Amino acid sequence: MAVCLKGRSFLTLKDYTPEEIMHLLMLAKELKAKKKSGIRDKLLDGKNIVLIFDKTSTRTRCSFEVACADEGGHSTFLTNSQMSSKESLEDTAKVLGRFYDGIEYRGFSQKLVEDLAKFSGIPVWNGLTDEYHPTQILADMLTIMEHCDKPLNEVKFVYVGDARNNMGNSLMIGAAKMGMDFVAVAPKELFPNEALVEEMRELAKETGASITLTENIADVKGADVIYTDVWVSMGEEDQYEQRIKMLEPYRVTMDMIKATENENVLFLHCLPSFHDLETEVGRRIYEEYGLKELEVTDEVFRSRHSVVFDEAENRMHTIKAVIVATLTGK
Ligand code: CP
Ligand code: NVA
Repeated sequence: MAVCLKGRSFLTLKDYTPEEIMHLLMLAKELKAKKKSGIRDKLLDGKNIVLIFDKTSTRTRCSFEVACADEGGHSTFLTNSQMSSKESLEDTAKVLGRFYDGIEYRGFSQKLVEDLAKFSGIPVWNGLTDEYHPTQILADMLTIMEHCDKPLNEVKFVYVGDARNNMGNSLMIGAAKMGMDFVAVAPKELFPNEALVEEMRELAKETGASITLTENIADVKGADVIYTDVWVSMGEEDQYEQRIKMLEPYRVTMDMIKATENENVLFLHCLPSFHDLETEVGRRIYEEYGLKELEVTDEVFRSRHSVVFDEAENRMHTIKAVIVATLTGK
């Protein structure tokens, strides 16, 4: 049966079947090709979307704005709203639902984005919460499809670092959905939540995926993809000291790349990344802890293995697919 996602929210990949995820990826590929060839057919003509960010963003905000504008829609970036301070979430959601066709929300609580969907009555897209970052995973999958000569269900995907954050959770879900061989290489304290792991292992039985959690860096052997994220996520800025202690051995280095024994292994990162001293935070960490690079070395980040900027570009094409599919049913 043809996939139709019109009217659906996009809150976590758990809510989407493998066929629906593949539909979004194929639509993103089509929309990307269309943009590259200069075709503009205004799939979002007359649509209005609102973007709410309670955490900072470069890629996600710009992706929503450019994607919407490319297809002839209009977006409002909402700052200083009354939401949660002078007006309840429920009332705000009901108001936005009268004005707009869709809502993007980035913030702390997954419950908040779910409540926005419940009360607004229009599609809500999760632009990152403490628990999940589902739009990022679509960009990651599309990038792997473009750069790896294997189908997704034959890919060994190794996530290294803080495996219990929004990226660790969402990548594990995405990998389980798409039948991938998912390995989280992390200290035990940073393994993903056990209940989520069990749920994904159950799902993996249906999709042919495998889910492995290990502290052993040698398990990167055979990886097609090495993925990492920052050691300290937004909202956890008081955790640097303990995370550095736990995660320093898990930095992605050229030695780790070599240990994959795959000369074409890809390096992915959702970005932003602390791979040099060109950021205020990076310099502060250097002054305090003497580290010039955190989760990945500059050498790996700039190496031929790294596809991080193709991945960043794909945020826009995949977010466009999510907006178009959920607002128009395409
Ligand atoms: N990867 C990502 O979500 O980037 P931003 O925080 O810049 O949106
Ligand atoms: N885990 C990171 C992802 C940023 C895109 C964070 O939440 O800050």
